[in-house]
Amino acid sequence: MSKPFQITGKSSLVGLIGWPVEHSLSPVMHNAAFAELGLDWAYVPLAVTPTSVEQAIRGLAALSFVGANVTVPHKQAVIRYLDELNDAAQITGAVNTIHIREGKYFGYNTDAVGFLNSLIEADCHPKDMRVAVLGAGGASRAVVFALAKAEAAAVTVFNRTAERAAFLVDDLADTFPDSHLHFAPLTSQALIDLGDDVDLVINTTSVGMSPDIDSNPWPSDVPIPSHAAFCDLIYNPLETTLLARARAAGNPTIDGLGMLVHQGAFAFEIWTGQKPPTDVMRQAAMDGLGIK
Ligand SMILES: NC(=O)c1ccc[n+]([C@@H]2O[C@H](COP(=O)([O-])OP(=O)(O)OC[C@H]3O[C@@H](n4cnc5c(N)ncnc54)[C@H](OP(=O)(O)O)[C@@H]3O)[C@@H](O)[C@H]2O)c1
Repeated sequence: MSKPFQITGKSSLVGLIGWPVEHSLSPVMHNAAFAELGLDWAYVPLAVTPTSVEQAIRGLAALSFVGANVTVPHKQAVIRYLDELNDAAQITGAVNTIHIREGKYFGYNTDAVGFLNSLIEADCHPKDMRVAVLGAGGASRAVVFALAKAEAAAVTVFNRTAERAAFLVDDLADTFPDSHLHFAPLTSQALIDLGDDVDLVINTTSVGMSPDIDSNPWPSDVPIPSHAAFCDLIYNPLETTLLARARAAGNPTIDGLGMLVHQGAFAFEIWTGQKPPTDVMRQAAMDGLGIK
């Protein structure tokens, strides 16, 4: 039985910088993990407006914070105030975790590792797979980075705004010259042309996210590829309309909760140096989502 969560005068502090932050599941996930391991740590939401990012980042060290997570819309804006970046942060151009050590600010992107660990946990191994990624926003950058690192055979990024997909592919192709990265418009015809030549489909768009749960980024006139696994980064709802359709067609599916848990778990390990209790973090996130 874990000790009840409480903040003491000696608590080590981490927080979440974003705008807004009130719907985030990170505070409940991390505080449950601290309590489980009996750590005198606390995770607090820190609402920071876009005009206050610099003061907020400087203030973390001034207030003796160990670090912070960073969420929308500040993942790019914080970079100029950091001293060093890990390769995922540097290449994706987005930081979601800060660790302060001896007054120096280290920036990480834990979404890429979190995404990959969620696939592996679901026994999905992207090495040598042909992958279709729907969407070309911030999450897609972390996903394509992770897939290229994991040596996927080929990755095609489909996006409503095709130029944004072209830009993403162009950016990452410099770092991964041997990866086969392509882009295409997110249209019925482009997905029909893909046919069955795909092993893994990943939705990184926000289409299907609550409250717009009936929408689906996979057009209704395009058949589900015969054997591809379908992964959706969305975790609210846990089973999106896309995953429900793939499951009904008999395809394996992976929801977005695993990525949420594993990106948080990697941040937890960076800050505390301890192995995170991922089951406890998952349960806390599910409780936060109201999932039984
Ligand atoms: N599980 C996790 O841990 C985790 C982590 C990060 C993100 N996510 C989820 O991933 C999703 C994307 O997040 P993000 O940060 O990448 O957002 P983002 O940077 O704003 O990108 C949004 C993406 O969705 C596309 N899109 C939006 N509305 C669309 C529509 N009606 N039709 C077609 N495409 C549409 C955008 O296309 P355009 O470029 O054409 O606008 C873009 O590709 C969100 O649902 C978020 O909750 C989950």
